[in-house]
Amino acid sequence: MKLSFTLFSGLMLCLLEVKSQTVIPIETKQNAIVLQADTKTSVKMVYYGPKLAAQGDYANILSSYKQGSDYTGLNDDAYTTSGTRNLFEPAITVTHADGNNSLDLHYVTHSVKKESDNVSITSIVLKDPVYNLETTLYYKVYYNENVVEQWSEIKNNEKGNVTLHKFASANLYLRGGSFYLTQYHGDWAKEMQPEETKITHGIKTLDSKLGTRANLFQPSVFMVSMDKPATENEGTVLYGTLAYSGNFRTDLELDHLDNLRIISGINNYASEYSLKPNEVFTTPAFLTTLSTTGKGTASRNLQAWARNYRLLDGKGTRLTLLNNWEATYFDFDENKLFGLIKDTKKLGVDMFLLDDGWFANKYPRNGDVAGLGDWDENKKKLPNGISSLVKEAKNNDVKFGIWIEPEMVNPKSELYEKHPDWVVKEAKREEFYFRNQLVLDLTNPKVQDFVFGVVDDLFTKNPELAYIKWDCNAVIYNAHSATLKNQSHFYIEYVRGLYKVLERIRKKYPTVPMMLCSGGGGRVDYGALQYFTEFWPSDNTDPLERIFMQWEYSYFYPAISSSNHVTDWGKQPIKFRTDVAMMGKMGFDIVVGHLSPNDLAFCQDAIKTYNQVKPVIWQGDQYRLSNPRENSVASMLYLTEDKKTGIVFNYLVSNRYAEGSKLPIRFNGLDAAKKYKISEINVYPGAKSSIDNSKIYTGDFLMKIGFNPDVNQSRTSVVLKIEAQ
Ligand code: DGJ
Repeated sequence: MKLSFTLFSGLMLCLLEVKSQTVIPIETKQNAIVLQADTKTSVKMVYYGPKLAAQGDYANILSSYKQGSDYTGLNDDAYTTSGTRNLFEPAITVTHADGNNSLDLHYVTHSVKKESDNVSITSIVLKDPVYNLETTLYYKVYYNENVVEQWSEIKNNEKGNVTLHKFASANLYLRGGSFYLTQYHGDWAKEMQPEETKITHGIKTLDSKLGTRANLFQPSVFMVSMDKPATENEGTVLYGTLAYSGNFRTDLELDHLDNLRIISGINNYASEYSLKPNEVFTTPAFLTTLSTTGKGTASRNLQAWARNYRLLDGKGTRLTLLNNWEATYFDFDENKLFGLIKDTKKLGVDMFLLDDGWFANKYPRNGDVAGLGDWDENKKKLPNGISSLVKEAKNNDVKFGIWIEPEMVNPKSELYEKHPDWVVKEAKREEFYFRNQLVLDLTNPKVQDFVFGVVDDLFTKNPELAYIKWDCNAVIYNAHSATLKNQSHFYIEYVRGLYKVLERIRKKYPTVPMMLCSGGGGRVDYGALQYFTEFWPSDNTDPLERIFMQWEYSYFYPAISSSNHVTDWGKQPIKFRTDVAMMGKMGFDIVVGHLSPNDLAFCQDAIKTYNQVKPVIWQGDQYRLSNPRENSVASMLYLTEDKKTGIVFNYLVSNRYAEGSKLPIRFNGLDAAKKYKISEINVYPGAKSSIDNSKIYTGDFLMKIGFNPDVNQSRTSVVLKIEAQ
């Protein structure tokens, strides 16, 4: 009798234990993040993968893994603390008001808020049972796009200051198998160089300590393939990136159980944060999407999300343009610019974009050594000011845009003379320059006003100004502010200052298109892109290089955001250069007067063609058909959602003997049952297309057998239009 009672009560306890576990499934259309919690411990991350048909099954996941002991019970925490039992990389490390370094965060409660049919936010409140420190984890789900944004809020309810040593946005825990990391590195003109490696035990850190131009050597975007390296259409792959324009840090740690912890957030390097009583520290968002059908699906997820929710005016239109940077560099005057404005009209693009060199008088901006910071028109070059150029543009029926770099200053400038304390530098140490310039101290509200004023003045004086190119060429050396009380807040306050300025600009000028430039792609991230309509991927506009670079960017960013300009870089003919520029937001940076009549006619026609097909390129789904890193021919398809219209860009990327499209290239994403006609567009004047446009193909045929664009040494660049009949 006694025995059976013990058995019975044991069973009851066991049931209660299971019952007291709260399973929190966070589902998108395809995937689920599953968390599990009870009030006595921390929240566990059970799963991130394809969602299960029955929600009840999520409770059975954990018991299916027999990987051994983690010795702490903390390895799979959804937000790993430090200072108690944890033996691995933490997401959060603090020193409490009383000097104690331990932190435990137990589950308190959670709730789900629906923002729309597609967007909901799950928030999970955690609290230290011993100290008055609270953390809320947020999981914002974009259901149809399969994108999850994660961030955290750390609240100090203690009586004194709490020091945050580490304060990640997100902490994922992926179980078992093997993992493959695709990461990117770069430099000026060498953005987005991919590397793929098997993740080995220990920690791999992707990070930046550059402050501004933070992505110069490494952007925060990455992919993790599970079990085997994912290909375009096969395999499970997770994309991640921190939506932040400053120092970031992502740790990928493979533990002794072969599970992968991914912890991402603001880089805590030189950034201990002192959190006052009642103050809340909100981290930037870490974005992920997951696909079980390869990299292509993940890229389309993220691109759709960006267009629908993040990129400024992601569903809107964009201006084609003629830029004068490579056509003139700093050497121009009003007369020359009037000529270029006429060329803008002649070419048929929407806008003339005046680049660097239009400002500063005491130290004229005739090179990159002086004048930066002095935003008055240079009287010698522009005696009648910007307004005369805006007027001339209007007379020619084109728009006018302008370059600025308002966060920076040349030491040789009036601004520096007037406000030496506005500059980021160590006053007692020798100055050190990046491109002969220093960064302004955006932690200082007066500097924020100044930077806002640069933009505001331009628009106040020239209400018809249509576009801003916002550059940022220097990294931060000697990170120190003359006015900030706590210097270890510097890097964080800099980005806060930058976002405050951009918020103000967007409040007053909500729609004006702005290009995010950082000496190329030094600041392409989803923190900044909520304020910008497009970005400058690289100063390297050699079209061959751009095929590779744009390919990699396209995994993470939509084509409408990628500014691609036709320049004189590279050895390819104008057709090749123009075709490559068409793959995103097209512009030109050439001397129109130097074009041969045929080249000019080609460009003029190409712009007209572009204007017809740009909705497909900007809003279509991208399918990578033939990878330039693996084949002699690169091929990329842009396809409308209704699968009726597509544009396919094909390029020869090898100079080897007799290379070309020997095999048909298999399409993807089409409707198998539809019938398609294929014709060649962007044909150079006088050339005859070898594509027979009278043939009709089924989608089934094009996806199983493919189509040969007939790329060869005499047809190095071929653009096709496919139309459902
Ligand atoms: C760097 C940018 O990437 C270029 O396009 C150009 O705007 C120069 N700066 C101007 O200084």
